[in-house]
Amino acid sequence: MLVTGAAGQLGGYLRPALTLAGATVVGLGARPGEGVDAIADITDAPGTLHTIGAARPDAVIHAAAYTDVDGCERNPAMAEAVNAGGARHVAEAAQQAGAYLVAVGTDFVFAGDGGAPYAEGAEPRPISVYGATKLAGERAALAADPGFAVARTAWLYGGAGKHFPRTVLSVLRDRGRMAVVDDEAGSPTFAADLAEALVALVAAGAAGVFHLVNEGRATRHELARAVATGAGLDPIGVEPTTTAAFLATHPLAAKRPGDSTLVNARAAALGIRPRPWRQAVEAYVSRLAVEMGIGPEMRQAKEA
Ligand SMILES: NC(=O)c1ccc[n+]([C@@H]2O[C@H](COP(=O)([O-])OP(=O)(O)OC[C@H]3O[C@@H](n4cnc5c(N)ncnc54)[C@H](OP(=O)(O)O)[C@@H]3O)[C@@H](O)[C@H]2O)c1
Repeated sequence: MLVTGAAGQLGGYLRPALTLAGATVVGLGARPGEGVDAIADITDAPGTLHTIGAARPDAVIHAAAYTDVDGCERNPAMAEAVNAGGARHVAEAAQQAGAYLVAVGTDFVFAGDGGAPYAEGAEPRPISVYGATKLAGERAALAADPGFAVARTAWLYGGAGKHFPRTVLSVLRDRGRMAVVDDEAGSPTFAADLAEALVALVAAGAAGVFHLVNEGRATRHELARAVATGAGLDPIGVEPTTTAAFLATHPLAAKRPGDSTLVNARAAALGIRPRPWRQAVEAYVSRLAVEMGIGPEMRQAKEA
């Protein structure tokens, strides 16, 4: 198995999930790092073709992307090169190596202004450069071989880097309260659950577009409250606000979909059913809180 984006958030969970399933994993990265066995910049077509060909994989999970949504808006050429061109190079290399491919996609291919929850057949209409270039990447992957798959996911969290539950806990730890938008909704997904679902999708070898998210719909505010509760903190510190009020003080370059909730219709038909988002948040956040030193003493101090 070859994994692109091996040093990324999802990549960190893919290696153990694949190893557990009995696979030998080759991790590809743009530079040396944790989990990186082979180096290739996926914007470089010959280098990508050579590196993937040399690994002779049976299957490829393409998890590398330029994931900074606002960065993509400011640098559309780079977004196009990585998310569209890079996906095309990886897919063509997989096709030439005779390998199956799953390219990881995003809920940001949808406008989110009506029609959610979106099943796989819903018409994409991206409203950001990130969404548009990821959609071009999906199409390039399926054009390289119609037997390939795209797995769209959303609102990923987990691992050592920056993600929403970590931000919520650090703000609550440092300030005790925070305002979170309650008019943006989606499908929060634990990266470990996605990795497990991707392993099952690779085993099924199915073709076409799939949605792979923890089940259910959450607003950002509901998610933040669930994170607080999971850490044993009082969720009352998480106050609701609106996107308009948030953007007035924290302007962002890229537009976000209002409600981009996904439904895993095709995966469910294969028996792949990631658990409901609240269960996943509870399981992960109880460990994250300990790791961040948000323990019983802090909870008692808050109660006192
Ligand atoms: N995070 C989310 O909330 C979310 C939501 C929906 C879908 N997704 C999709 O899920 C997948 C995994 O996301 P993630 O959260 O794991 O992202 P991530 O943590 O940002 O990891 C992406 C990886 O891609 C690598 N990469 C970037 N440009 C590259 C290039 N030119 N050549 C080779 N590697 C390159 C990065 O390496 P460097 O760091 O060294 O540049 C990084 O290791 C992506 O396809 C993303 O679009 C993510």
